[in-house]
Amino acid sequence: MLPASDRRDRSGWTIAAWPNPYPQCIRSGNALSITPAEPHLTQIHAPKPFLEVLSGRRQPVPPIWMMRQAGRYLPEYRELRARAGGFLDLCFTPEYAAEVTLQPIRRFNFDAAIIFSDILVIPYALGRSVRFEVGEGPRLDPLETPEQAGTLARHGDFSKLEPVYEALRRVRRELDPNIALIGFCGAPWTVATYMVAGQGTPDQAPARMMAYRHPEAFSTIIDVLVENSIQYLLGQLNAGADVLQIFDTWAGVLPPREFARWSTEPTRRIVEGVRAKMPAAKIIGFPRGAGALLPGYVDATGVDAVSIDWAAEPSLIRERVQSRVAVQGNLDPLALIAGGAALDRAIDDVLENYAGGRLIFNLGHGIQPETPIAHVEQMIKRVRAYRG
Ligand code: CP3
Repeated sequence: MLPASDRRDRSGWTIAAWPNPYPQCIRSGNALSITPAEPHLTQIHAPKPFLEVLSGRRQPVPPIWMMRQAGRYLPEYRELRARAGGFLDLCFTPEYAAEVTLQPIRRFNFDAAIIFSDILVIPYALGRSVRFEVGEGPRLDPLETPEQAGTLARHGDFSKLEPVYEALRRVRRELDPNIALIGFCGAPWTVATYMVAGQGTPDQAPARMMAYRHPEAFSTIIDVLVENSIQYLLGQLNAGADVLQIFDTWAGVLPPREFARWSTEPTRRIVEGVRAKMPAAKIIGFPRGAGALLPGYVDATGVDAVSIDWAAEPSLIRERVQSRVAVQGNLDPLALIAGGAALDRAIDDVLENYAGGRLIFNLGHGIQPETPIAHVEQMIKRVRAYRG
């Protein structure tokens, strides 16, 4: 006989054995709740395809979503962004943040929604000044010297992040139960690059330099980010997130030794810290540009999946990454802008390379503002027509 968790009735619902593999479903209020009188068999919604892949079960049609799917390529986003005033006002007004999170779901019916926020809300909670200048990106008060690093608060004011949790609860209430809700944070290295330089730079030289010259001061910043990120991610799970993603956008500028110390190790500590409180937490890592360092990252961090960029080498990924965890990616966002036959070819490459294993279809990085909506539709249609 099949284990209870694999039994499915004709309505597509699953009779799940206690403990429920998706505790968030219960917290969310979207599913039938557990009653003490029925501790063994509990009816829950059909499993979310996205979570199935993360739990090791390949789907014949890969689930799909896009990094930065709520954003400037959508006219409805631009409209609400203009109404909200500042970017942080948009992030911290739960009604707006929830609405913007749901916009791409309504339009495209993706398999996952990602809460609308930013990785720089952690420095903001730590009391740093964080501003987003239109057309220029983020601006923070820099932390370039050991003396400046010494002024960093150890504990964030999490009441400042309460609007993000409230937005998650709102999205959770409205979201179709088959669609996963993703919470996220930046990896300590990537967040630190912005905190040290006070802005984005082409190769994050200020943080790299500080890590060489003042490793102790730099590791203080990293430690503070590790502890506060754990707390923030747990808060997002409690507010209804099903899955977490850790964005390490700038991992690829580090040589192997520094990568292990500043990217892999802090991420490992976050995964461990989250799982110490919530052992079933599903976590996706995105060490962009890690290349051949990816298998080591997967082994050391214990993530359930990795997001890969478009330059990843397919046989290395299949043999040494996808054999152990799920893979998410990796369409070139420029192919999505180009459209036409070039886009079809690029989509087919991703499917051919990775859909034989556990795949979540995504881009190799965020969607760019100039991307035509028709090209996103073309991509979704083609991916959903795939039967592997
Ligand atoms: O994916 C989503 O739809 C969820 C929302 C999300 C945003 N930022 C919204 C946003 C997520 C997951 C992020 C993560 C993020 N933020 C990262 C890591 C992932 C990545 O894309 O590399 C980084 C490095 C940041 C920091 C950040 N925020 C930068 C460098 C910028 C400016 C870049 C730009 O394109 O202007 C932002 C601003 C930002 N965050 C925007 C959005 C939609 C654009 C701002 C606007 O609408 O005015």
